[in-house]
Amino acid sequence: MTWKQFFWEDSISLPSRIKILDTTLRDGEQTPGVALTPKMKLEIARALDELGVDVIEAGYPIVSSGEEEAVKAIASEGLNAKICALSRIDRMDIDAAIRCGVDWIHIFVATSDIHLKHKLKMSREEVLRKSVEAVEYAKAHGLTVQVSAEDATRTDPKFLSKFYRAVVEAGSDSIDIPDTVGVMTPERFFKLVSKIKEVVKVPVAVHCHNDFGLATANTIAGVLAGAEIVHVTVNGIGERAGNASLEEVAAILKLLYHIPMNLDLKKIFKVSRLVEKYTGIQIQKNKAIVGDNAFTHESGIHVHGILCKPETYEPIPPELFGRERRVVIGKHSGSHAIAEILKKHGLTLASNEISEILREVKERGDRGEVISEDLIVELALKRRRKKVIELKEILLTSSIDGCACLVSVKSNGREITTISYSRSPMDAGVKALGKSLKELIDAEIEDVRIVNRNFISEAEVTLSLGESRTREYAADEDPVKAVALAALSAAEKLLRRVEICRG
Ligand code: KIV
Ligand code: ZN
Repeated sequence: MTWKQFFWEDSISLPSRIKILDTTLRDGEQTPGVALTPKMKLEIARALDELGVDVIEAGYPIVSSGEEEAVKAIASEGLNAKICALSRIDRMDIDAAIRCGVDWIHIFVATSDIHLKHKLKMSREEVLRKSVEAVEYAKAHGLTVQVSAEDATRTDPKFLSKFYRAVVEAGSDSIDIPDTVGVMTPERFFKLVSKIKEVVKVPVAVHCHNDFGLATANTIAGVLAGAEIVHVTVNGIGERAGNASLEEVAAILKLLYHIPMNLDLKKIFKVSRLVEKYTGIQIQKNKAIVGDNAFTHESGIHVHGILCKPETYEPIPPELFGRERRVVIGKHSGSHAIAEILKKHGLTLASNEISEILREVKERGDRGEVISEDLIVELALKRRRKKVIELKEILLTSSIDGCACLVSVKSNGREITTISYSRSPMDAGVKALGKSLKELIDAEIEDVRIVNRNFISEAEVTLSLGESRTREYAADEDPVKAVALAALSAAEKLLRRVEICRG
């Protein structure tokens, strides 16, 4: 039984196959702050080819000699994907693309009145004439041509239809409808794409920007209206708020609409990380499909659910996209998550011990601490061991003459009590602790740091014993007690190390 049987029947007929035009290396590189070397571009192009994208928009050759070099190198790499270069309706742009040896050319010109008047300072007729000439010139040089009406979604629909009809008559093999400034909503874009589909009989592409966070939704609306090609970028990078993201669009087409594509989805994550590395644009943690948290579960109810049956809280199988399911611990966790993590580390604890760990996790979570897997293991191991060193008492007094701190610690039946004086309570405490640990196990306190957060003191203590050194942490409302707990937990660790070394 599958949950998708409860979806309302789709009344629209879906395209039989979708082609992916990836523009990470062109629109993606237009992301503010991103600049890729030809070598990086080539490596990304190879990864995109392995992923199985149909067309790689490799760049805009006229912009620089490095860009031309990169597009040339990608075009001569013998990849399976068709290689495309961006071009204005100018001959010098088209010539640059021809020099690169690309298969496809993506010719664009703005068609909205706002762009014609303020940017291009051209009339509609001029744009039509020059576009037709550009298409004819590119076709005469053997290129496969796709034409974009830049700012199509803010263009007078009558002129837009006229423009697309003219470029198709001139030989354009496909047309693209860009939502250049991302102002579409899915239902409006559906209508626009449907209208253009009535006008032209060549394949239609859609190119959506994410200014209102609708790039993916609009791309899918375009597909539902009959678009056969989608322009996307890895991780959704691109001008301003970016483009429709390849991974989101691919996941929706595959899992929610079952439309065939050429992609090997398992490779998406690897490409996503490569693009992150070279562009320096960090993937947000909660990004669908490729974000760190996309397949991570924390809440107790969810973890219990996925451990019984992953589909309870996983609409997307992580393996499909080369990802793994992860369980993390936080204050929303339940005992199933703790048990699962311990199982992974070969540890089994009684349920009352797991409940104790869970209680400690929740207390720490409430204090704003981030809980690591290591900490869970440490807490479990602590419960298995008998403490070898124990804090019996810590007493602070202060007067106008200064402070006194008494510390009492016990190990192997021996109890040491020391008192120290200082002008500050913390200094008196650290001195008293230091004396006790020196006398009891010959350890030295090397460093103490304290951070106060939400009325809780978090202490970090570095302790050494002979050649061995460790740093431990503890938190408490009382800063001196936090230091004492961290110091004793460091002492425990060092003593254990000594025991292990002695065999
Ligand atoms: O967003 C846009 O309009 C573009 C064009 C070059 C198609 O990227
Ligand atoms: Zn764009």
